Amino acid sequence: MRQPKILIVGAGVVGGTAALFAAVALPGAEIVIVDIERVRADAQALDLAHATAFWGHDRVRAGEFADARGADIVVITAGVGVKPGQTRLDLVQTNARIACSVVDQVAPLAPDAIYVIATNPCDPLTAVVRARLGCEPGRVISTGTSLDTARLRALLSQRLGVVPSAIHAYVLGEHGESALIHWSGATVAGMPLDTYLQRAGKELGPQSRALLLRSVHEAARQIKEGKDATQYGIASAIGRICQAIVHNSHLILSVGVVQPEVEGVPDVCVSLPMVIDATGAHLVAYPELDAVEREALRQSASVVKEVAVGMTA
Ligand code: 2OP
Repeated sequence: MRQPKILIVGAGVVGGTAALFAAVALPGAEIVIVDIERVRADAQALDLAHATAFWGHDRVRAGEFADARGADIVVITAGVGVKPGQTRLDLVQTNARIACSVVDQVAPLAPDAIYVIATNPCDPLTAVVRARLGCEPGRVISTGTSLDTARLRALLSQRLGVVPSAIHAYVLGEHGESALIHWSGATVAGMPLDTYLQRAGKELGPQSRALLLRSVHEAARQIKEGKDATQYGIASAIGRICQAIVHNSHLILSVGVVQPEVEGVPDVCVSLPMVIDATGAHLVAYPELDAVEREALRQSASVVKEVAVGMTA
């Protein structure tokens, strides 16, 4: 059986780390990493060859866009990063141009590829790439709030003393400052969160919940106070999405695709709980939200739509 081929565009910290996680998760996959600076792609590929030798993988290499031929997954991590005082949305003009340039070079060579968009702002850029490709929405996946959901679960795990895997709480909406936590749907060890708190004799009042949301919003900025860029969280999101596509595993993550309508906002990419399989990402079922959550999601979708509409016109 032909082994899957993954093209990672952008050989920076995120692209390089995503290549490593994809190699560890998918030992047989061919992974090609490309960059406008070939010397950087070569350096990442050489370093990765040494790393993957420990993990029984030997198929990571540097390449050019011509190597996109037959790719099953195209991961876009290339673009400029947020500078102090900027939000992710401020990057849309520059990074949309880069994403469109990538699509124009890759799409003719990999007509059936599924795209994973990690470059920020990943949600509007997902709408831009989907429009450029003219493909069904599920084939262009924003890493979206999968990373924010992981951050929330890590924070709740520390706060409640329960392993993250027993905490089903999702961050929805924009991967950014307007993201919201779906508290009304949160469960711990199979119990609604409020039932768990009551039975476990624990507290998580409105102020604590607001602080948790702020911590999720601020996580990237906090990490960048100590290192140049976030790396392992976003790269793990990419690796898990690639693994779910290749294994057709029906993994559920809060990722983004262009939805026909979210809280009255048409054709917008925001993150909802999605099933990821060999054909891309598909809505599990529209989440049951309370009135506060619905309004927050509507506002978040409106923010993303406003930025995207300027780019896909
Ligand atoms: C993050 O939040 C890079 O947006 C990404 O880490």
